[in-house]
Amino acid sequence: MPNDLRGKVIVITGASSGIGAATAEACAAAGMTVVLAARRADRLEEVARRCRQAGAASGGQALVIPTDVRSDAQVEHLIDLTLEKTNRLDAVFANAGYGLCASVVRTSPQQLHEIFDTNFFGTVRLLRAAVPHLIARGGGHLLICASVVSKVGLPMYGAYSATKAAQDSLGSALRAELDAYPITVSTIYPIGTVTEFTKVVGEISHLPHARPNTPSRLAHSPEKVARAIVRCLRRPRPEVWPNRPVRFALAIAIAFPRLTAWAMRLIMRHRYQKTSTVV
Ligand SMILES: NC(=O)c1ccc[n+]([C@@H]2O[C@H](COP(=O)([O-])OP(=O)(O)OC[C@H]3O[C@@H](n4cnc5c(N)ncnc54)[C@H](OP(=O)(O)O)[C@@H]3O)[C@@H](O)[C@H]2O)c1
Repeated sequence: MPNDLRGKVIVITGASSGIGAATAEACAAAGMTVVLAARRADRLEEVARRCRQAGAASGGQALVIPTDVRSDAQVEHLIDLTLEKTNRLDAVFANAGYGLCASVVRTSPQQLHEIFDTNFFGTVRLLRAAVPHLIARGGGHLLICASVVSKVGLPMYGAYSATKAAQDSLGSALRAELDAYPITVSTIYPIGTVTEFTKVVGEISHLPHARPNTPSRLAHSPEKVARAIVRCLRRPRPEVWPNRPVRFALAIAIAFPRLTAWAMRLIMRHRYQKTSTVV
């Protein structure tokens, strides 16, 4: 029997836009109480309004708790306040993150620390804060937003790919470590998704004309990722691939590293060689 999500509570980081916001709406429509966390409080309030509308028929509710995932204290407060206000916790979705477009050699140590602080340590902070409460309450679900680039590092996105690979490893280790407890750990592997991601890459990398990595005909919507996540909440599984053919393409890429190196060289040559400084 699939899990009944009505009345269950999920905390979602990075809920002010993109995949996080779409997932919040889909969870609210399924009858969950969604706790929305990100830095921009005004955007969270807008998402909360949409969640309340989406959840009107199913009892879905929304709560806004502005949070910066780079702060231990704020992430602990997010979990504590969720428990205080809702008196339960069933799932957390570590989704907050951003990308950086720069060659490995030209990524400064500070940029590297900053991107790991949000994407990787932000995930660690959320999971560590949530796990003891989930265990004490009899179980729950941890979801981590990795990416297809966690499996094969993308040229000019080396630092970003490394954060996603780190999240991926963390998820599989945690899955085994928590095996004795009624806790599911699910890792999500979206491909290019139409969100504010590329705009933020442009701002952070000082590239006003940054373009999405995935051709638009292959990119999917955040709603498609959100639907896959709700299916996973209903029927828990270790991995969520919103685009299944990509999973098989990546299996081939891992099995044939020379082919992968050739494909990555092509991407580098055609997209970046003429316009980017590598060293
Ligand atoms: N879009 C893609 O092509 C794609 C593909 C694979 C994986 N992903 C992953 O999907 C996740 C969501 O990205 P998206 O595509 O939905 O991009 P997005 O629209 O830019 O959303 C990113 C979210 O992360 C939040 N965030 C960033 N830094 C934060 C911080 N320090 N504290 C709290 N929240 C923070 C942002 O909110 P505030 O700015 O309000 O804090 C925003 O809500 C990321 O982990 C990304 O790596 C994206």
